[in-house]
Amino acid sequence: MATIFQPTDADVWKRLSDHYRDIQDVRLQDLFADDPDRFETMHCEGAGLILDYSRSHVTADTLDLLVQAAEELQLPERVAQLMSGAEVNTTEHRPALHTALRDFSGGAPYKDEIWEILVRMDAFVHKVHSGVWRGATGKPITDVVNIGIGGSDLGPRMVTDALYDHWSGKLRCHFVANIDRAELERTLADLSPESTLFIVASKSFTTLETLRNAETAKVWMSGVVRDETDLARHFVAVTANMDRAAAFGIDKEHIFPMWDWVGGRYSLWSAIGLPIALAVGMEQFNELRRGAYDMDEHFRTAPLKNNLPLLLGLIGIWYTNYRQASTHAVLPYAERLRLFPDFLQQLTMESNGKSVRLDNTAVDYVTSPVVWGSVESNGQHSFHQLLHQGTHEVPVDFIATLQGGMEDEHHPWLLANCLAQARALMTGKSYETAKQELLDDGLPEEETEALAMHRQMPGNRPCNIILLEKLTPQSLGALIALYEHRTFVQSVFWQINAFDQWGVELGKAMSKQIYGQLIGENTDKTMDASTRGLIELYIKHRNQG
Ligand code: F6P
Repeated sequence: MATIFQPTDADVWKRLSDHYRDIQDVRLQDLFADDPDRFETMHCEGAGLILDYSRSHVTADTLDLLVQAAEELQLPERVAQLMSGAEVNTTEHRPALHTALRDFSGGAPYKDEIWEILVRMDAFVHKVHSGVWRGATGKPITDVVNIGIGGSDLGPRMVTDALYDHWSGKLRCHFVANIDRAELERTLADLSPESTLFIVASKSFTTLETLRNAETAKVWMSGVVRDETDLARHFVAVTANMDRAAAFGIDKEHIFPMWDWVGGRYSLWSAIGLPIALAVGMEQFNELRRGAYDMDEHFRTAPLKNNLPLLLGLIGIWYTNYRQASTHAVLPYAERLRLFPDFLQQLTMESNGKSVRLDNTAVDYVTSPVVWGSVESNGQHSFHQLLHQGTHEVPVDFIATLQGGMEDEHHPWLLANCLAQARALMTGKSYETAKQELLDDGLPEEETEALAMHRQMPGNRPCNIILLEKLTPQSLGALIALYEHRTFVQSVFWQINAFDQWGVELGKAMSKQIYGQLIGENTDKTMDASTRGLIELYIKHRNQG
């Protein structure tokens, strides 16, 4: 029985549910058999990216209805509101203007502030690259360590990693997020305090992990940094909280502002992207912005039926709310996109992991699926077994490039693996075929029946394929913006605020209370027995040690 997804009273939702019941048993291979032009009609291009959505359980009617639903929800108007700076983050009374940060039309809000920071970033990158900016002992900077977490880490970390073959070669960039000191220690092990520059990146400048790591970094620098002037040579900050950053000891001149109207997970286009600019240079950072702008323009202007973020969003809704898929896998066949799934997890799940609507009522349908994934082809030798023969239907986005980074035999093999996985998911293998293969291999008839049961594969498993011509700053920018907008489209369907994250607050507050107890500052007998028991165990263990 289908979940009834009916966010408004409009008739289109009832028609969608009826339509779902009509086609729920359709098989992908039959859709292809019935329509030899299916690939032609179900792939499209935008901002240099190609989307093949032909291997989804949708027909032209499904898409018509989903597009009608998007219209019913006034999606084009909502996109216009988003991009013009309307207060789309209703619980925090803020716009979400990540698109303004990569605007090249000159017409976006806050353009002067944005321009000013880009100019400052450019000058800073130039100073560091040219060796004009030196450490306290006069050594040029060779290593930059970004200390931040969540949106102040995942985006810049992923992009910097993905573009490693575009690095300027002037310095190395490192990232530290985890409060587990092991990450900081491992990062600093090979670095010299004299030639290391820290970027303390935190929109709020209150985030525990970041402040703790930054304090420890200060201690690590203590042999080199004697006073505030020295400190200023080794620490810069990116934040919307100038006073806190200044109180930490960072020279106001070296604080790059960001703004309330940029969400953390959408902030890599702001000065949070400083490590990217330091790694690849400002020109390439601007190419990244340009790619995202191209996707913004595509999203804003392309007809709904050829609109990549919209189509991806609609197909996601179809799987989540009609076919009841509870997870969504994103599998890049590109080593350089190995961190993309991590980035997407915050983007999608912190944005749409919500259960209260914009009108403050509880949803009565499911929202964001669990998003997961990893770099390929590695996953083929790990979790693909479940994708092929497990009991879940997991819609997959495969991401691949037409050209590899290096012209050799690896890339055609990589692409062949991607296309083979997509095809195997769809076609599967029938019991009869499995049995015949075993007979052909000379297995005795009586053994083939049992084994064929295990070797058959159901097939009919869906995927999208997203193709980049080549991984460049421009195409990467477009890819990130594609998923940002897909996330927004789905939030419009679910009628939720994609730009707040209240759910992370409770755990933060509790960790402070528990920390106080772990270090013996206070006790709280009202805590649940399990937490109390584990705290006592820790204290006992520490006292014994
Ligand atoms: O804990 C969640 C979160 O608030 C994210 O939304 C944010 O990206 C991250 O923490 C880091 O926040 P900040 O940039 O303020 O340190």
